[in-house]
Amino acid sequence: MDRPIAVIGGAGRVGGLVTRRLVEEGARVRVVSRNPGRTPHRHLPGVELHQADVRYTDALPAALAGCGGVVYGVEPGTADSGPNCPEATMYDGVRNVLAAVAEHGERPHFVLISQIFVTRREHPMNAYGRLLDWRLRGEDAVRASRLPYTVVRPSWLADDGLTGDRVRLEQDDRGDGWVSRAAVAEACVQALHSQEAVNRTFELYNEPGAAPTDWPMLFHRLIPDRVLEQPRL
Ligand SMILES: NC(=O)c1ccc[n+]([C@@H]2O[C@H](COP(=O)([O-])OP(=O)(O)OC[C@H]3O[C@@H](n4cnc5c(N)ncnc54)[C@H](OP(=O)(O)O)[C@@H]3O)[C@@H](O)[C@H]2O)c1
Repeated sequence: MDRPIAVIGGAGRVGGLVTRRLVEEGARVRVVSRNPGRTPHRHLPGVELHQADVRYTDALPAALAGCGGVVYGVEPGTADSGPNCPEATMYDGVRNVLAAVAEHGERPHFVLISQIFVTRREHPMNAYGRLLDWRLRGEDAVRASRLPYTVVRPSWLADDGLTGDRVRLEQDDRGDGWVSRAAVAEACVQALHSQEAVNRTFELYNEPGAAPTDWPMLFHRLIPDRVLEQPRL
């Protein structure tokens, strides 16, 4: 990875783990945050801090210029409207980042952290600002962007491997379960490395067993996405 990787939400919990793993691999990392001074790994070599808010377009192009990859790990609000609502953070924010990247004519690998349940509109989580609908529309914007991308849909997050370190990737969005933030971060980093992860959407779970050693093989088993021609209503 010669070009820097932008981690949007890099001051957060999964984003911080992504940042640390990338630094361990010798990558340059641009942490994009509204308050980058609070970034946990800001003193690590190779970490640059950029202040930007995904809801506004002003600072994003400079933060993303020249990046070889973008990881989008933004936590949405749950109100129906207002500045932090899911529409603003999960849909407008994603589109703002895609537009900022396009401004430079670059084609970074875009890794979007989404969640399970996004195709289950009836799920109770959708009562919070139509969170699931907006997340799915954000996913659709990424899939339609023509960038190389990977959409990672974590199950419920835990700070450690509650159920084990083995990972299971699914693609029908029918499951439920847990996954550690470390496994999500690893999936994002491995996706950036792997051509096999490009144009793939998958759910991510932990289960009893050991952590994987061959992520490209896990990605290889996934079915490539069929991209919608028209946005969902
Ligand atoms: N909790 C779960 O069970 C669960 C399950 C599946 C998926 N997820 C998703 O997984 C992702 C990572 O979760 P996490 O626990 O690591 O979240 P987290 O620790 O809350 O970090 C999320 C980051 O989002 C950033 N952010 C929020 N609004 C922003 C904005 N307008 N512009 C730029 N950055 C913004 C914040 O950065 P700054 O404050 O520094 O700007 C924060 O550091 C999130 O998308 C989450 O919704 C969660």
